[in-house]
Amino acid sequence: MSRIIEPFRIKSVEPLRMTTREERADILERAHWNLFRVAADDILIDLLTDSGTGAMSSEQWAGIMRGDESYAGARSWYRFRDRVRELTGFSHIIPTHQGRAAERILFTCLGVEGRVVVSNTHFDTTRANVEYLGGTAVDIPVEAARHPEQEHPFKGDIDLESLQRLLAGERGEVACVICTVTNNSGGGQPTSMANLHESSRLCRESGVPFFLDACRFAENAYFVKLREPAYADRSVESIAREMFALADGATFSAKKDGLANIGGFLVSNDDRLARQEQELLILTEGFPTYGGLAGRDLEAIAIGLTEVLDENYLRYRIASTAYLGENLLRVGIPIVRPPGGHAVYVDAGTLLPHIPQRQLPAQALACAFYLEGGVRGVEIGTLMFGGEDPQTGEDRVAPLELLRLAIPRRTYTKSHVDYVIDVAAEVVARKEALRGLRITESSKHLRHFTARLEPLDRSVAPATG
Ligand code: F0G
Repeated sequence: MSRIIEPFRIKSVEPLRMTTREERADILERAHWNLFRVAADDILIDLLTDSGTGAMSSEQWAGIMRGDESYAGARSWYRFRDRVRELTGFSHIIPTHQGRAAERILFTCLGVEGRVVVSNTHFDTTRANVEYLGGTAVDIPVEAARHPEQEHPFKGDIDLESLQRLLAGERGEVACVICTVTNNSGGGQPTSMANLHESSRLCRESGVPFFLDACRFAENAYFVKLREPAYADRSVESIAREMFALADGATFSAKKDGLANIGGFLVSNDDRLARQEQELLILTEGFPTYGGLAGRDLEAIAIGLTEVLDENYLRYRIASTAYLGENLLRVGIPIVRPPGGHAVYVDAGTLLPHIPQRQLPAQALACAFYLEGGVRGVEIGTLMFGGEDPQTGEDRVAPLELLRLAIPRRTYTKSHVDYVIDVAAEVVARKEALRGLRITESSKHLRHFTARLEPLDRSVAPATG
């Protein structure tokens, strides 16, 4: 049987609220054309993020009831620690409230000030944490990653020639290399084991620590099984373990492949670094046996870290994202090819060539998806990555203008996805009428979360289609 179905049935449901186009036009206006400012009740299908938005299993809910809330040495902590150790092989396990807390602690303790952090592509919080601490974040994806229309099995690979030059000191001393698996800002694309082996080797030769930003490690490992012939017969768990074994440590957001609604961790084998990290953890997150988490969260994550490696689940997960991607292409929406693991990235720059980058074409498209059908995605373009360069003061634009449609885990059915495809077709039919946006108010770091915007031409603005 080749048809892939949701490998679960539904035990608990949440109603969705419908809105009219007129209501949505009004909501957009009041939200200053920033979808982060829209109340979730006003969204029909929420593809803003796959982070913390998934459905937990009945086993995880049972674990929530078993959670031990003791301050020190809780049973749930040992369960969490043992599962993370078994999966990652690292000795020091530091629980944090989410991924960015792990990043902040790691970069503070490594000391990135005046130094360079290298990645295939930094995620927005990762880049912001490096820059906030006075470091320089440098992205070196392979060339194929810069061409959305090109098919390539491993667009999450690091460009090894650039890595060698950077490790030799081209931009200054390198504090660490961190490889994001899968590469979220670069289209949810996987990194190959061959590339991880080589990056790890080059870092070890230079004495520079090599980390994984492992949020979507299971999706990456499954892509490796599908696309890298040497791994076709391996279990996804054994591929994941090999990935972790190549690194000196990892940061993790359990809101993704932890299948939990909150949580994260930081792992390494470095005793001295871990001691420093633990000190900072106690100061800002919590006691080392709970970090920023409740016992019940630790329990849900420990269970999620096993469930996420179920190959039936991963087969459905990757196939359902691909289904959305292929159908968007069918209705005339260019996407980053191939579709990613957790999301499909619409190439707004190509779809809307009449909107210049500084007028935020991907944000205009995000607003159009909402207006047309109550679908919320997120801009990954110049609103997110543009603005003033902290080093040079230059007004940056992003390398690509993308609209990410991220799929929460185990949450929406195929008919929800079909609805999104219908909305996309409506948006395509009106694309010439879409106009750019202007930022009227924004903050220095991570401006996309809170910025206020306005349409450049109100007579044909996204709000009126
Ligand atoms: N690294 C990557 C690759 C991420 O995708 C995220 C979060 C983080 C780090 C930070 O983790 O949210 O737990 O603090 N990504 C979410 C997203 C927010 O929508 O892609 P966090």
